[in-house]
Amino acid sequence: MSVNKQITPKFHIADIPIYGDKVLSPMDGFSDQPFRGLVRQMGSAISYTEFVSCIDVTLNRRLTDWRLTYEEVERPVVFQIYDDDPSRMLEAALILEEQNPDIIDVNMGCSAKAVSARGAGAGLLKTPKKIEEIFKKLTKELSMPVTAKIRIGWDEESLNYLEVAKIIEDNGGQMIAVHGRTKEQGYGGKANWDTIAEVKQAVSIPVIGNGDIFSAKDIASMKAHTKCDAVMIGRAAIGNPWIFSGLDRDQVAPAQVKITMLEHLERMINFYGEDEGLTRFRKHAKQYMSPVSLTREQRKEIFTAKTTEDFSVLLDQMLIAS
Ligand SMILES: Cc1cc2nc3c(=O)[nH]c(=O)nc-3n(C[C@H](O)[C@H](O)[C@H](O)COP(=O)(O)O)c2cc1C
Repeated sequence: MSVNKQITPKFHIADIPIYGDKVLSPMDGFSDQPFRGLVRQMGSAISYTEFVSCIDVTLNRRLTDWRLTYEEVERPVVFQIYDDDPSRMLEAALILEEQNPDIIDVNMGCSAKAVSARGAGAGLLKTPKKIEEIFKKLTKELSMPVTAKIRIGWDEESLNYLEVAKIIEDNGGQMIAVHGRTKEQGYGGKANWDTIAEVKQAVSIPVIGNGDIFSAKDIASMKAHTKCDAVMIGRAAIGNPWIFSGLDRDQVAPAQVKITMLEHLERMINFYGEDEGLTRFRKHAKQYMSPVSLTREQRKEIFTAKTTEDFSVLLDQMLIAS
């Protein structure tokens, strides 16, 4: 199922060839090494880590250790950082460079209050001068490409995605991923794909389109609508990693669902250890099982299973026999 061995790259980020046009979104709490490893096998072309705070990096907090752990097969690997202080961002990026990612990405999309209210994440969209300073600093000092993931503005009254995209490009940024929503929208309303098309028209660096891809059909629709170089898939990939192989969840046979769930669980256990791996897997399991109608009792059983063997038996009963 691997697409990573295709001969012709779909596009390049600086001089890094990208062998595919579907990418797993960075997702705090989800796009960890086990999930990234799984979806890369299925066709995701780039590995974005969950974002890390530059404060955590510069204070050497251990939290960043497992968030930034990756495997060689995942390359190209993108470390995503967030902050509101250009100098600290540079300091953090220089520290991270030693862990040898392929790309450093600046998060300008996080709408969570704890991040955006202090001017980081989507909060940076309010300060284009700061964006300029960040890109100037990072692209001058780092030996690897610097990219950005943006929203289209703080709110409907301040849609500045074209200005921001130009600033990123003019100051050495090598790729822009655009989530077609404002900060104020959070995850509500609809992603505006027209804005992604406008950014693609306005810059000559690659553009990745993001927002509201829920089915394999949506992948083709976004590409046709925006002419973006690749699409980025977030929520729809949770419980449906097959979307990177062009399949919707209801097209996957129950036996295959079981095999993939157990592989995902095994990856989680190998990475986090048995207890932590099983616990963290539950939120994925919930999404994998969402199309299956389960009784309250079955639900409880599956989401509290204590071993891989118990889990496997339950999947046989609930998935295969259903
Ligand atoms: C649980 C969750 C965590 C997220 N964490 C991040 C993150 O760490 N960095 C980031 O740039 N975006 C993050 N996002 C936003 C996604 O990358 C993506 O832009 C958004 O979900 C829209 O895409 P979708 O409609 O395909 O889900 C997160 C989204 C979700 C749902």
